Amino acid sequence: MAPSVADLQTPSTKDTISSLKQEVKKGPSYPFYYPYFDVNEKFPPTEIFEFTDPGTRADPAKPHLLTPNTTTHDISPYIGTEITGVQISQLSPEGLDELALYTAQRKLLVFRDQDFKDLGPDRQIEIARHFGPIQKHPTSGNAKGYPEFHVVYRDADHDPFREYLGDDRANRTQWHSDVSYEKQTPGTTFFFILDQPDSGTGGDTLFLSQVEAYKRLSPEFQKRLEGLRAVHSAVEQAENSRKRGGPVRREPVETEHPVVRVHPVTGEKALYVNPGFTRRIVGFKKEESEYLLKFLYDHITKGADFQIRATYKPGTVVVWDNRLTVHSATGDFDKSVRRHAVRLTPQAEVPIAG
Ligand SMILES: [Fe+2]
Repeated sequence: MAPSVADLQTPSTKDTISSLKQEVKKGPSYPFYYPYFDVNEKFPPTEIFEFTDPGTRADPAKPHLLTPNTTTHDISPYIGTEITGVQISQLSPEGLDELALYTAQRKLLVFRDQDFKDLGPDRQIEIARHFGPIQKHPTSGNAKGYPEFHVVYRDADHDPFREYLGDDRANRTQWHSDVSYEKQTPGTTFFFILDQPDSGTGGDTLFLSQVEAYKRLSPEFQKRLEGLRAVHSAVEQAENSRKRGGPVRREPVETEHPVVRVHPVTGEKALYVNPGFTRRIVGFKKEESEYLLKFLYDHITKGADFQIRATYKPGTVVVWDNRLTVHSATGDFDKSVRRHAVRLTPQAEVPIAG
């Protein structure tokens, strides 16, 4: 009798298929950082703290950060520099001060070949704390026992990113500035990759410079923005988490921030509105507020000439100044692919009006 198709599948082919399946099913490389949600975890309301940006102490020449071994490459003129030849974990306090200054100047730094992901949680937190007290996220996955970590995780079975955005979106772009509803918004922010698509492509982060976005406006328009304040809200994020049975660790807040803020180290002015959390302009009627915010969102999101994509390789750490930038994930990789990354989010000053 002629062999069936099943018989023609040799044992070795079967083994290969089964090992491929196991490969797809294998767990995260860093299970400690698997997102942890405890609906009973509660944090007290945040309190105002004294803050001095470490960048104010930095030597402008940055001798501890930019040594002869360091190579830098500007990704675009307005935002982003890629750095090789330096380990964040080896930087002295002076080097970390210089990192704060350089991040403020370039808005975003991409550090390659870092050992950061293998330092362990305590040392990672210690380094990030140099830049301010670390925000504990009210709704996102954290690491068990370490609420300082904000975990970004997607795989075939677990995809909060797509759940959050829903299925009726034509694209998955979601420009925002992290947790801008906090009274003291994040400053020098760390993001490191643990697992990424094996293809090495997909899952970039889009960033734009709010400093350049502000500079592009006419002096007359800049004058109109002066003194305006906007409401940033945590309410939708909390409601969304509640709806999905997730935690709301702190009651959601609504906070007013200036529409234009000044960086405490560089003195640069930046727009400080984002579609993710900014809801209305204080003192404007509804239609007026929508009109102005729509213009500002169109302006920043269409400004491809002051945007970049941060790309990830194993060992990449991206550091950005959350006061001067807006960013969006790109969910452009296959649903079955695991992507795992962690953010440490030091909080900075109460925004200074520009
Ligand atoms: Fe973000």
